[in-house]
Amino acid sequence: MRFDILTLFPGMFSSPLQESILGKAIEKGLIEIHIMNIRDFALDKHHVADDAPYGGGQGMVMKVEPIARAIESVKLQNPFAKTIYLTPQGRPFDQDLARRFSALPHLILLCGRYEGVDERVRELFVDEEVSIGDYVLTGGELAAMVLIDAISRFIPGVLGSERSAQEDSFYHSLLEYPQYTRPFDFRGHCVPEVLLSGNHSMISCWRRKEALRRTSSRRPDLLSRADLSEEDKKLLGEILHQDKRGKAGNEF
Ligand code: ADE
Repeated sequence: MRFDILTLFPGMFSSPLQESILGKAIEKGLIEIHIMNIRDFALDKHHVADDAPYGGGQGMVMKVEPIARAIESVKLQNPFAKTIYLTPQGRPFDQDLARRFSALPHLILLCGRYEGVDERVRELFVDEEVSIGDYVLTGGELAAMVLIDAISRFIPGVLGSERSAQEDSFYHSLLEYPQYTRPFDFRGHCVPEVLLSGNHSMISCWRRKEALRRTSSRRPDLLSRADLSEEDKKLLGEILHQDKRGKAGNEF
């Protein structure tokens, strides 16, 4: 899969994309990332890519022409590339959207700065607007990295043969169960005995129950979307019962 990133701050991308899983995916040719400085597409002597807003007001607006030229230069190579504009006004990014984007061969990620882009960029060049959460970043660069990371995990081979993003808990709308590694006893806090039992069906039942417990206490909204079996519902019943008893116990 190919990503073209359009940014005013190309230096922000160099180190994060060289490390760990993404670095390896690039080395293996599973993902290809091109970083383009929008300023390089400004034709004036000083490569100006922003200007004051019409109508007055604070800040600067990213000009339409350099962005148009940058996008058109990518589209010349692939007219079917989809352009995503990173903005807090966009559609919330989640695991389903990451999976959908991972099926596309080529994305152009446009990173906004300042007061955003001239509205005509949106009208004429943007296919989809995406937000990574209800907070305002200094620009779309970190959001673009979040998209690349979450999308790349769905590309076969990126996570290694032993794992796939389909197995991730969010894929099944539940949070992960707790994980432990050595030592068994850390300052009196011991690993649950069941994990040392070697009984795989008991271990997977415990893990499922803890995933349900965690999801029900931290993200009950996810439970309503989850595909729950009869066994899951029974486990949830036990959890609610245990919690009620726990609360009652705490009151004394
Ligand atoms: N640019 C600034 N804030 C952002 C956000 N929350 N999501 C995507 N792009 C952004």
